[in-house]
Amino acid sequence: MPKKTTADVKKTKKKDFETVAEISAPATVPEIEVTPKKKILFVASESTPFIATGGLAEVIGSLSRALAKNSDLDVRVVIPLYSDIATEYRSKMKYLGNIFVPLAWRNQYCGIFSYEKEGVIFYFLDNEYYFKRPGCYGYYDDGERFAFFSRSVLEIMPFLGFFPDVLHCHDWQAALAAVYLKTIYCFRPEYQFIRSLFTIHNIEYQGKYSLDILEDLFGISNSWRYLLEYDKCINLMKAAIECSEKFSTVSPRYAEEIKDPFYAHGLDPIVRRNEFKLTGILNGIDVDSYNSETDPAIFCNYTKEDPEPKKRCKEELQKMFNLPVKAETPIVAVISRLVSHKGLDLVKTVIEEILRQDVQVIILGKGDSMYENFFTDLAKNYVGKLVTVIAFNPDLSRKIYAGADLFLMPSKSEPCGLSQMIACRYGTVPVVRETGGLYDSIKPVSLGGNGFTFANYNAYDMLYVIREAIACYQNKEFWPELVKRVMNSDFSWQRSAGEYEKLYRSMLQ
Ligand code: GLC
Repeated sequence: MPKKTTADVKKTKKKDFETVAEISAPATVPEIEVTPKKKILFVASESTPFIATGGLAEVIGSLSRALAKNSDLDVRVVIPLYSDIATEYRSKMKYLGNIFVPLAWRNQYCGIFSYEKEGVIFYFLDNEYYFKRPGCYGYYDDGERFAFFSRSVLEIMPFLGFFPDVLHCHDWQAALAAVYLKTIYCFRPEYQFIRSLFTIHNIEYQGKYSLDILEDLFGISNSWRYLLEYDKCINLMKAAIECSEKFSTVSPRYAEEIKDPFYAHGLDPIVRRNEFKLTGILNGIDVDSYNSETDPAIFCNYTKEDPEPKKRCKEELQKMFNLPVKAETPIVAVISRLVSHKGLDLVKTVIEEILRQDVQVIILGKGDSMYENFFTDLAKNYVGKLVTVIAFNPDLSRKIYAGADLFLMPSKSEPCGLSQMIACRYGTVPVVRETGGLYDSIKPVSLGGNGFTFANYNAYDMLYVIREAIACYQNKEFWPELVKRVMNSDFSWQRSAGEYEKLYRSMLQ
């Protein structure tokens, strides 16, 4: 075998260590370039299938799974170990060990459990004092609970031997993880290459606390106060925007909207100042779970090629709610948290005008007692036309998605919204206001799109398009075509997961 010259070595030289390997290795060993997987750690307060109070959990569960399908990524998720997590999952968790986490003058126990699911490793952080309570939020000490959680996320890294390339923090409960990284941990060698991304799922909830607790509770030196302080208090969302390399939100339209005071709940100056690092990526949904062909919760299954059996779902739904069984009467559904930003003021204003037409309306949700009482009382005056169910019931909601004809979602603001996408999966045509992710996912039928839309936050504009939709329902030729078109909308994670990956890579250059 001829000896290699220096020029030969230089030609094949990639990195110094490869050169050494090449000189001493036998000629038959092929040169393999191994690119290490990029390590992504999601930090969030909830994730399906373990614990869910809303859209955030669905996104954490389904986006992490979609990203993990990419063999270049090692995706892991960390959430608190709430007592509400079902035994079904708890019993299968692996106990990895425990550490003690410093939190100002406290030193708190943190148990670490793991559970692997479809290529994603989930970590659960245990501390019974903080998380052995019903539900996830709404306690006087939520600030301290999520400060402990966020601090623990950084403390478990050496224990696990896992230092992510990207620390992807979601919403205010995880904001402090990005802040601790920048104010405490990035000065330590193992942490110095971690980049952080902060995703806003809803700018309304910012995590605001009194400035008094900065040092005593969050354990952050007063010299960093300028990063956290906003409007005379600690604002965790603001701090995470300042501290992260990039921040994102859950639709391109919402990324524009939050620069505007109407949508930003006071944070618009901060968003505008940091605009250069903001991206909007539209959420997807779990299209395997929300699938009219296979969903076991609905009365009968149907395909987008042949949605005819959907009619049986409607019939069964009408029977279930004691509504007259009438195929020609469209069912309008509202499945929503009953809170003001979901546009319930508009519904409240014109509901009687809607009910004057040949429609049936079903409202499912829980929320402000003002709306709960209003719609419950009204249903008593409109027996056989209006049904109100005050509950959060995933099984029932699937039956309604499948059995209804129109899905009303007139939100005042909507970062992304998943329900309009779910409705499409079941061939139920959305009626939405053009805001945030509703604007990005639903385009007007008149332009060849998949729903009925209106622009201004105005009850009569909404009423106008509802009437248009009802008239359209009566068009026996067009409606079945529209149902198929709506079911053909692509809301899988495939495209958006690719966008997240691009974003991660742009941060790691
Ligand atoms: C929040 C937003 C909702 C979004 C969800 C997931 O719940 O209000 O619009 O779809 O987060 O990102």
